[in-house]
Amino acid sequence: MEKGPAKQPPRAVLFDAYGTLFDVYSVALTAEQLFPGSGNALAQLWRDKQIDYTRLVSMSGPRHYQPFWAITRNALKFSAEKLGLALTAEGEERLMNQYRHLSAFPENREVLQALKARGVRTGILSNGDPDMLAVAVKSAGLTELLDEVLSVHATQTFKTDPAAYQVGVDALQLPPREILFVSSNGWDAIGATWFGYTTLWVNRAGAPLERLNCTPTRTGHSLREVLDFFPA
Ligand code: LAC
Repeated sequence: MEKGPAKQPPRAVLFDAYGTLFDVYSVALTAEQLFPGSGNALAQLWRDKQIDYTRLVSMSGPRHYQPFWAITRNALKFSAEKLGLALTAEGEERLMNQYRHLSAFPENREVLQALKARGVRTGILSNGDPDMLAVAVKSAGLTELLDEVLSVHATQTFKTDPAAYQVGVDALQLPPREILFVSSNGWDAIGATWFGYTTLWVNRAGAPLERLNCTPTRTGHSLREVLDFFPA
C-alpha cells in the first residue's frame, strides 16, 4: 500500500456504496443472459452513463435533479439503445431488480466486523437514494454492521458537489479530516480528498489515478486496507 501523510488517525469511516461495497458490474451476468455477447459492454456503459447523468444534473441545478434510482433506470435505457439492444419492459425490470440487490464484495463483512470490534463508527455516504440504499444494505445483510446509511438525496445534488460530501460531516459531527472516506471510484476518492476527508482509494480495478492534481491520502486494492488506519 502507498502510504500518504495520515497526520491524525481518523475516528470514523464512511464508505461509498456502489462500486465500493456493492459490485455494480455483477449485473453483467443477467445482461449477458438477456443480450449474449453484450453483457459486459452494457454493464460498463450503464455505469458510465449513470455517473455522467449525476454530473449533468448536479451542474444544472436542483430543478433537474432526479433520484439515483431514476437516473439508473434512464441510464440503462440510454445504454441499451446506444448499443442497439432491444430492451423489453421485462428485461428492464429484471436488470433493475438485479441492481436493487447487487452482490456485495466478499470482504465487506469481516472488515465491518473488525471496525466494530475496534469501536470505530461506520457508515455509508452514497449518491443512492434512501430507498435503494436500504434495500441494498438489507439484502447484503449489513444492517447491523453500519451505524449510518447516509444518502445525498436531501441535497438534490450528487458527489462530487461539496454539499453532498457535507452530509457525512453533518451526520457524524466530526471535522472531515477525522473521517476516513473510502471509495473504489477514483473520481469519488478525489472529490472527497478535495472536500477535506482523509481518504482511501480502494483501486480494485488497477485503474490509473485520475489526472486532477490530487492524490488520495492512501491507495489500496482491498477494503481490508481500511483496517490499517485503525490499529487493533
Ligand atoms: C455511490 C456511487 C457513486 O454509491 O458509487 O455514491
